Amino acid sequence: MSQMGRRDFLKLGALAGIATLPLSMVRIAFGKPEDDFTFAYISDSHIQHIKGNQFVRNWDMGLKRAVAETNLLVPKPDFVVFGGDLAQMGTKEELDHGAELLSALKYKTYHVMGEHDYYLDLGKYWEKLFGPQWYSFDHKGVHFVVLNSILTTDEWTFKRWPTAEQRMAEMAGLDNPNGSPFMVGEAQRKWLKEDLAKVAKTTPIVVFSHSPIQKIFKNWNFWTDDAEQVQALLKPFQKVSVVYGHVHQIQYNQIGNISFNSVMATAWPWPYPQSYVLADSHLPVLTVPMNRADPFFERDATGWQYINTRTGRLALNYELPNNTKRQVAFNAKTGKPQDMAYQDKKNRILPQDHY
Ligand SMILES: [Fe+2]
Ligand SMILES: [Fe+2]
Repeated sequence: MSQMGRRDFLKLGALAGIATLPLSMVRIAFGKPEDDFTFAYISDSHIQHIKGNQFVRNWDMGLKRAVAETNLLVPKPDFVVFGGDLAQMGTKEELDHGAELLSALKYKTYHVMGEHDYYLDLGKYWEKLFGPQWYSFDHKGVHFVVLNSILTTDEWTFKRWPTAEQRMAEMAGLDNPNGSPFMVGEAQRKWLKEDLAKVAKTTPIVVFSHSPIQKIFKNWNFWTDDAEQVQALLKPFQKVSVVYGHVHQIQYNQIGNISFNSVMATAWPWPYPQSYVLADSHLPVLTVPMNRADPFFERDATGWQYINTRTGRLALNYELPNNTKRQVAFNAKTGKPQDMAYQDKKNRILPQDHY
């Protein structure tokens, strides 16, 4: 695998220095540099309708800036992924307005379903705008899988609430105990198994989901209930990366052969759940300690993030507005992603080892 071009990275870094914006740039690097490619990732814009043609300006601006900067990226991304939660309450007005803002993108855009897009009409209007709720595609030797990870049981979906609006409102709260755990579900897992059966075990796999396909913090639905079953389907592959939105903060983890990395939101950062530090028992499969977003700084955990998949493992560079830059990279010595500045100083690897 070749490394990310230092010059390209610096160019991107300079751009980010001028305008710290919510956008992720992902570079897939191969042995032959001419095979490398990049894609951009924008997530969690939460477009919110007020009335008539009025929408919450702050959320509009986050998405507009990300779209404008994506169109100026050098190198040009091969495609863009929107990571879900385009809307806040899943209405036609919000989805239409979000789609209109995204239509300014000059690149093919792939969409991931978020719970805020889904729970009003169970994804019907979203599908009309963006296509199927789960699918896969191949691009230059990489197999990409898009999952709808925010489904739940039929009982909760169809029987519990008198109206669709109430169902949506119950799911929209971060720490609402009436919310249901997310899951990928049996039908989609069956589809995934069949889809992956056609893929060579050496092919790099990149999965896009909205919620993490791991169990981080159930009370806030930083959680997918059937995560282990999905991970088992991904286990036979040598290089697997899962990229997800939803958590509006920096997270990374390594479980077996799978690297997990979140992307930041264009709307707002969620604070860091207290239980991360208070109760180890809430983190059954978390193998790497996390960094927190600053809940008193409304733009923290929004920013630029460059993801480099050199050697099939993710390395991330965060450019955060008015905050320390971060670099998280896979440390082959420990077999885990590691924050270069904050963690495990004894085993620290230097930035030049990665780029
Ligand atoms: Fe979100
Ligand atoms: Fe979400």
